[in-house]
Amino acid sequence: MQRIVVLNPKGGSGKTTIAVNLASYLASCGHTPVLMDFDPQGSSLRWVKKRKPTQAPIHVIAAFEKDTRTTRAFQLRVPDAATHVIVDTPAALEPGELPAMTRDADKIIVPVLPSDIDIHTCSRCIRDLLLVAKIRREDDRIGVIANRIRRNTLTYQALIRFLHTLGIPIVATIRDSQNYARAAELGVGVHEMKSYVARDDVEQWLPLIAWLSRTKAAAAPPAAPAPATGQAPGGSQAGDAGNSALPELALPAAAADA
Ligand SMILES: Nc1ncnc2c1ncn2[C@@H]1O[C@H](COP(=O)(O)OP(=O)(O)OP(=O)(O)O)[C@@H](O)[C@H]1O
Ligand SMILES: [Mg+2]
Repeated sequence: MQRIVVLNPKGGSGKTTIAVNLASYLASCGHTPVLMDFDPQGSSLRWVKKRKPTQAPIHVIAAFEKDTRTTRAFQLRVPDAATHVIVDTPAALEPGELPAMTRDADKIIVPVLPSDIDIHTCSRCIRDLLLVAKIRREDDRIGVIANRIRRNTLTYQALIRFLHTLGIPIVATIRDSQNYARAAELGVGVHEMKSYVARDDVEQWLPLIAWLSRTKAAAAPPAAPAPATGQAPGGSQAGDAGNSALPELALPAAAADA
């Protein structure tokens, strides 16, 4: 089972759109995705409820609800048949919440919009993922989606340059398309729309899908033998060592003063 967390503390960056469209894609390919909605707005939950019985089923867990009659673990349990868990996270997630939210994540998707403010927030988010949540860049777990892109605009070029400086891959570039709003109203994803309507949108998901299927084992070099220091595997030193190139995280001029 693969766990994919979609996060960016900036509201409206496209977290729910990416999460539900990914679930729709996986379900329409015959997988058994589960959407886990941590956002009290419940947008993913609402989207699933709009789906028709004829559409590929998607199980949803309302993780934002606190049910005092049962344990948290029971509330968040994932059906055995699940092939993927897609976690939709709320806006304004605090850095201190990132370790728990990303601990078991195989992949972390950060959607970002091409504006100075969004670039600035994204840079902080990635810095917190590396420093607070101790995600190692070389594990290939973090990928950025450039969302609502209009090519050949200056902000788009700035976004591309900025992401390059972070050393984090852009795993998809998604255009600004009315199809996402139309699909959301119907409880479907662009992959479930008529192909003559959404062909251009569907194509843009291919690099993301390829990146998701690139597992850690395949991407990472063979593990080095554990040092005989008594340090627990995955301890803070291991995390710090993986982030040795932190000066690269300096904000670009366009983002720094946003
Ligand atoms: N590529 C896109 N093209 C057109 N509209 C989009 C695109 N991505 C997202 N949107 C629209 O932008 C709005 C915000 O998107 P979405 O709800 O996915 O963001 P979010 O990050 O989940 O927001 P929140 O932080 O409030 O949960 C929605 O109306 C959605 O339909
Ligand atoms: Mg949302």
